[in-house]
Amino acid sequence: MQLSNEELKKEIQRLKEKLSVTIVAHFYQRDEVFEVGDITGDSLELAKKTRDDDAEFVLFCGVGFMGQSVKVLSPHKRVVMPKVAECAMASMINGTQFDEAVKALNSAGISNENILPITYINSDVVVKAKVGEMGGMVCTSSNAKTIITTALKEGKKILFVPDRCLGQNIANEMGLKSAVIGDGRDIAAADIICYDGFCSVHQLFSVEDIEFFRNKYPGILVATHPECDPAVCQASDFVGSTSQLIKYIKELPAEQKVVVGTEFNMVNRLRPNNTYVLSSTKPECPTMNETTLQDVYATLKAIEDGSPINEIFVDETTQKWAKIALERMMAL
Ligand code: 13P
Ligand code: SF4
Repeated sequence: MQLSNEELKKEIQRLKEKLSVTIVAHFYQRDEVFEVGDITGDSLELAKKTRDDDAEFVLFCGVGFMGQSVKVLSPHKRVVMPKVAECAMASMINGTQFDEAVKALNSAGISNENILPITYINSDVVVKAKVGEMGGMVCTSSNAKTIITTALKEGKKILFVPDRCLGQNIANEMGLKSAVIGDGRDIAAADIICYDGFCSVHQLFSVEDIEFFRNKYPGILVATHPECDPAVCQASDFVGSTSQLIKYIKELPAEQKVVVGTEFNMVNRLRPNNTYVLSSTKPECPTMNETTLQDVYATLKAIEDGSPINEIFVDETTQKWAKIALERMMAL
């Protein structure tokens, strides 16, 4: 028999009280899943807060790389995911493709000693491990600028994976030269060399959408996530990570209209009035949306029954190097 959302919430509450489980939910989750989260936040906040939590199980509602990051930072915890759905951007680069990207830099005359790789947290644990082994580190959209500023002090070329938009947006903000592998620009002349990955959700926003809203509502502010195309970010009034967008929008006067270029679920619950989504479509992240309340319940039930499902495991060597890459970021 199918339980209603209210019945599922009661059952989830009952199981939470009985078991040593913390439910963690990213801002992009469906509302009903987000509401049962004990810890909520953006990817950096979730990684940090979960590390300080002492429940035996972490039930992670998000996408695969996020659950992996929790496991890497806290290997003693048992991390289970109601859906091990992968972020489309993270799926664009695996270990072999990372090695090929390094070779592309070598072919342009840049030796390994002169490459400092940085991976956006939206990447597989194997890619994070390769980055860690090469002396590099992880960044998120909240701290990318700080990480890149520190990295540049080493006087090396930065290989930025997988998001070409975040890499180029940070370069533009910092007045640095960027190029994308394979886009015809001279990569040897760039400070930040980006892999050609992207987020299909954030590619939905365009400069035409911005013009549409500015014409329709003169005085409206435009706030976008740095995974959007560089032209979109350059045309925006504010560019920020998930938590930075939330802070910016919540601090606006109530009568100030704002249009936001990021994932639908987050924007929709942000502010009751005068807040618009920068698209005529509904920009939901398909994999974030895969997790349902029924899945959360089934995952808790499996723990209660003594046979946890969808548990995340990371082998020892990958764990070691990925942890180094993540901890280099945390240290900053
Ligand atoms: P945050 O790091 O802002 O949580 O973003 C994760 C993400 O997937 C954005 O699309
Ligand atoms: Fe990945 Fe884009 Fe979804 Fe974020 S919104 S999890 S980057 S596919």
